[in-house]
Amino acid sequence: MEKKKQSILAVSLVGIVMGISGIAFADAAATFVEKCAVCHGARGEGKAGMTTPFDKSKSNEVTAEVITNGKPPKMPAFKDKLKKEEIDALAAYVRGL
Ligand code: HEC
Repeated sequence: MEKKKQSILAVSLVGIVMGISGIAFADAAATFVEKCAVCHGARGEGKAGMTTPFDKSKSNEVTAEVITNGKPPKMPAFKDKLKKEEIDALAAYVRGL
């Protein structure tokens, strides 16, 4: 009986975690359109003379670092505009584009 309860709990926890990351992912997509697409293209394909498609060989950490602190001269820093969780979600999102 105890075992069954534990596995039900484990399954619901996984569901909750997946649900939350699903929401973060949807938010990242909306944030991307709102704040990034103007320079990176709606699907991260890049804009001629401005950006190239995202380098997906970079880790989430490196990508999050660029979003946080920017990349002179044109990539703005988002550390004052977005929360750390939003930046992490965006980093995962752009690497999946
Ligand atoms: C004002 C234009 C502009 C905006 C707005 C902008 N970027 Fe950039 N971004 C650039 C430029 C220019 C570069 C450097 C050229 C390149 O790497 O293509 C760059 C580089 C990057 C890189 C590093 C490139 C790589 O392949 O790893 C990432 C990641 C990135 N931007 C993410 C974002 C995200 C996420 C947003 C929205 C929160 C955003 N950028 C908003 C212009 C912009």
